[in-house]
Amino acid sequence: MKNYHSYLLNELSCDRESISELLTTDSEELRSALFCKAESVRNSNTGNRVFLRGLIELSNQCSRDCHYCGIRAGNHKTRRYEMDHQEVMDCVSFAWDNRLRSVVIQSGERSDREFIRKIGQILNDIKKQYAGDMVVTLSCGEQSEETFKYWRECGASRYLLRIETSNTGLYERLHPADGKHSFRNRLKALETLKKLDYQTGSGVMIGVPGQTMEMLAMDLAFLRNFNVDMVGMGPYIEHQDAKLPPDPEINLSLHQRLELSLRMIALLRLLMPDINIAASTALQAIDADARLQAIRCGANVVMPNITPLKYREDYLLYDNKPGVKIDGAANLEYWNRILSSTACVPAWDEAGDPKHYKMKKILI
Ligand code: 5AD
Repeated sequence: MKNYHSYLLNELSCDRESISELLTTDSEELRSALFCKAESVRNSNTGNRVFLRGLIELSNQCSRDCHYCGIRAGNHKTRRYEMDHQEVMDCVSFAWDNRLRSVVIQSGERSDREFIRKIGQILNDIKKQYAGDMVVTLSCGEQSEETFKYWRECGASRYLLRIETSNTGLYERLHPADGKHSFRNRLKALETLKKLDYQTGSGVMIGVPGQTMEMLAMDLAFLRNFNVDMVGMGPYIEHQDAKLPPDPEINLSLHQRLELSLRMIALLRLLMPDINIAASTALQAIDADARLQAIRCGANVVMPNITPLKYREDYLLYDNKPGVKIDGAANLEYWNRILSSTACVPAWDEAGDPKHYKMKKILI
């Protein structure tokens, strides 16, 4: 490899020029060196075990109206649903029986009392039944400090809240100016999660109209400076009823967004060697094989969907969402089989805490 290329990878920092170059390079040699290095950094920091989380899509009811999202409040074509308490507990029991020790409860954003209590009761029940051996991640949007605290006390230990983009101008273009959406509040919510000692996850959408390479480089810098424990990031994909308008200049093809997403994952692995990085479902909407590619270039988490099949078609954040007809058992079987084509193995029976979070605790 050219000296300059080795230098770029070995001395990688968050400067915009190097990151932009690595995101856009046409050099096959440099691309492949980036992916190889990310894989080896992953292996020597988090190991070759891929952590599994059972994804439960609790409800598609949402009070927000994010322009890009298929279940936004203003999309009246979406049939709304909410799983009941027992259905959620049945999913958790399925996860346990199938050697998963971690579930993600995801939902559209609501902050009414009923919803807050319901999540609290689910968390309490999981804590009671599994004595802390089933680790719960919540992904239920921006909430007040009081709610985050209540859910933490009920037993949630991880929270995923994407920043979507670290660029305030782009954030404003992605969200309506209705007083409910603000970059500042999103950031404040993330700070609160960290303060409450959640394992904190964030992430961005990649390839939205108008997003520049410099913005993506700044997103990586943001994730590093914020010191996240977990990241889920993936390509932006149009939804027929939630389309972002094209930008006058920058509109990437699906193929370009996929390629950029893989490079972002690889770069983040180099910048944050011991965090957990998910191979997001959106990748697979572009290429059936893409989540495996993400694992080959630095990701170490997958979230097999274990939501009951009858709800799957109603939780569509974007078009072509994969796996709507594949049940939890088939999904787990798929990962067990497919991971054997990589150098990784599924981490059955493990909760898979991010090493980064544990190291932060030691260093404090
Ligand atoms: N394309 C890709 N990702 C999307 N999300 C929502 N809508 C889309 C879309 N159209 C992502 C957002 C959100 C997460 C739950 O799903 O990043 O935070």
